[in-house]
Amino acid sequence: MNVDGSIALVTGANRGLGARLVDRLLDAGASKVYATARDPHTVDPVVSSHPRVSTLALDVTDQASVDAAAKAAADVTLLVNNAGVLGFGTALDADLDLFQRDALTNYIGLLRVSQAFAPVLTTNAPGAIVNVLTLIALAPVAGMAGYCASKAAAHSITQSLRAELRGKGVEVIGAYPGGIDTDMLAGVDADKAAPETVAERIVAGLTAGQTVIWPDDASAGAGSLYLGDPLALERTLAG
Ligand SMILES: NC(=O)c1ccc[n+]([C@@H]2O[C@H](COP(=O)([O-])OP(=O)(O)OC[C@H]3O[C@@H](n4cnc5c(N)ncnc54)[C@H](OP(=O)(O)O)[C@@H]3O)[C@@H](O)[C@H]2O)c1
Repeated sequence: MNVDGSIALVTGANRGLGARLVDRLLDAGASKVYATARDPHTVDPVVSSHPRVSTLALDVTDQASVDAAAKAAADVTLLVNNAGVLGFGTALDADLDLFQRDALTNYIGLLRVSQAFAPVLTTNAPGAIVNVLTLIALAPVAGMAGYCASKAAAHSITQSLRAELRGKGVEVIGAYPGGIDTDMLAGVDADKAAPETVAERIVAGLTAGQTVIWPDDASAGAGSLYLGDPLALERTLAG
């Protein structure tokens, strides 16, 4: 998709990867970016005062909030489902409330926003939805079972959305990062890519017409492994 001249909306744009995606979309020539957040006052003031940025309240778990955002941002051509949460825990011992929060945000929330914006995107076509998933949607790592399951569901619904929007001028793209150095993984000892790099590669992949984006070195390597042998990735990530 041509980002230059697009009108983008990013969920969870107040910090982490979402904030960097707003920067990169502006750099790539988006004519407007809706920087949305549960509390729009938490969007960086430098960003919110940018002439091509509009801030908007959007809680992906709240239908009324999502519907109001879709009404207010009826000119969107590029939806970036970035908002996400991570509750730690194993499949056998974890707190199911945490798993439910991950599912309601990462899977149902992404779907809720996609459903609300699908009529907007098809009306304004050509356009795209970019879903920020994760490498560990494809095979889980220990201690993040609920998060991985929620992202696996989001991966599957991404494929359904792609099929349903095919022919309506809306591309549906999945981005599958490895670890990123944001609040989400604070305190976790792991290889982490800079959010600036991940955001840049997501926007570059989108511009290049990629349907599946591996936006950092770790995910690019693991993605190749997955495409050749999914069970090998499962064994590798499970340790
Ligand atoms: N960090 C990683 O290693 C990593 C790796 C692969 C994929 N990802 C994915 O990348 C995306 C961005 O994560 P991040 O690393 O930037 O995490 P982060 O720094 O923790 O930021 C999460 C963002 O999601 C927002 N959010 C959470 N719940 C929301 C809700 N109900 N409605 C709207 N916004 C909500 C947060 O807003 P508040 O400030 O209001 O909480 C925040 O803006 C997520 O989808 C995540 O799963 C992250």
